[in-house]
Amino acid sequence: MMPGRTDEADRRFMAAAIRYSRRHLGLTGTNPSVATLIVADDGGGPAVVGRGITSLGGRPHAEPQAIAEAGERARGATAYVTLEPCAHHGRTPPCAEALVTAGIARVVGAAADPDHRVSGRGYAILRKAGIEVVEGVLADAAADLMRGYLTRSVKKRPQVILKLALSADAKIGLEGAGQVPITAAIARSQVHAMRAEADAILVGIGTALADDPSLTCRLPGLEARSPVRIVIDRKMRLPLDSALVQTARQVPVLVTAAGDMQERRGPLTAAGVGFIAAEVHEDHIALPELLEDLAERGYATLLVEGGAFTAEAFLAEELVDRIVLFTGPEKIGPRGIAAPVDPDHIPAGFSLHRQAVFGADGYFEYVRNG
Ligand SMILES: NC(=O)c1ccc[n+]([C@@H]2O[C@H](COP(=O)([O-])OP(=O)(O)OC[C@H]3O[C@@H](n4cnc5c(N)ncnc54)[C@H](OP(=O)(O)O)[C@@H]3O)[C@@H](O)[C@H]2O)c1
Repeated sequence: MMPGRTDEADRRFMAAAIRYSRRHLGLTGTNPSVATLIVADDGGGPAVVGRGITSLGGRPHAEPQAIAEAGERARGATAYVTLEPCAHHGRTPPCAEALVTAGIARVVGAAADPDHRVSGRGYAILRKAGIEVVEGVLADAAADLMRGYLTRSVKKRPQVILKLALSADAKIGLEGAGQVPITAAIARSQVHAMRAEADAILVGIGTALADDPSLTCRLPGLEARSPVRIVIDRKMRLPLDSALVQTARQVPVLVTAAGDMQERRGPLTAAGVGFIAAEVHEDHIALPELLEDLAERGYATLLVEGGAFTAEAFLAEELVDRIVLFTGPEKIGPRGIAAPVDPDHIPAGFSLHRQAVFGADGYFEYVRNG
């Protein structure tokens, strides 16, 4: 194979591996959703002979599953791994050793692992065994999908994605009007897909009271992918007849409360609501400490869905990693609630990462630099 063609084929198979890794986002606990493709050329051109993806809950890892599927065809083949293979002995042998034992000849890797037990060590095991290793192929694209895992590993808090729907005049709602439709069905389906890939969704009590949202994933076939729902609610004002409380036994609801307030806590507990003890700073729930607690509970990606006060609080404390704005074609008017951020006013330090059109609605995704 010509050297140039090798690069092209490596990128093509890695892109396929990265797409495959997306399938278990939000389902792998404290592990990232990683994919492995094993590619062999039996004379008819390179072909995928084994596929693996991190299992639900995080184990088994992708590599042993791909090796098992490839069987004897793994010998002499190339393995595409979206994250450096693990090097530490847990309940099972490290994935790097499994690749060696299977007789893999070449490993192409994408993202680097910040876990000190892994970083560089997985590749070292492979090289020591004589395996050719190519690192960093489509590393940014792979890391983008693992941002939750990487943020939790490095910053000890979840990746925070702030998602808002904005009218044409950059408003997010209308005081006293409840849920104001801003975007249409296709954009709303995208939001539900984002929910399916997150570990938790968070709103302020203002939104829970004004909109009575369910915050579940209602895409056909993905209903079981609804993540935990969290309400910042210092005084436990969440109504017992709210959609959130009424569905708390099907999809968990956590209230971040400060203080005891047994008369409120009792009925909410009886309805299936859980609590996160939170600290109060200047009359508001302390967000950095809350995020630390969420990371300790294993949540790697938190989707913040408003409202205005909550969005501003996360932005002001520089706790937002990704801003996702859906923009609708209609205006709400001067009485509307101003969006804390819009495509013409993005905080310094963010860059446009992706832009799309969903019917009459727009989509803008910004990522914090560095
Ligand atoms: N278009 C959209 O994407 C979108 C999304 C969501 C909501 N909305 C709209 O936004 C409006 C609600 O916004 P909002 O600003 O009134 O409510 P909000 O941000 O949902 O909730 C604010 C409340 O959360 C509590 N809180 C306590 N500590 C906090 C902290 N550190 N950070 C954030 N919140 C904290 C406070 O209640 P305590 O007083 O109890 O401390 C605060 O009053 C509604 O009209 C809704 O329709 C629009």
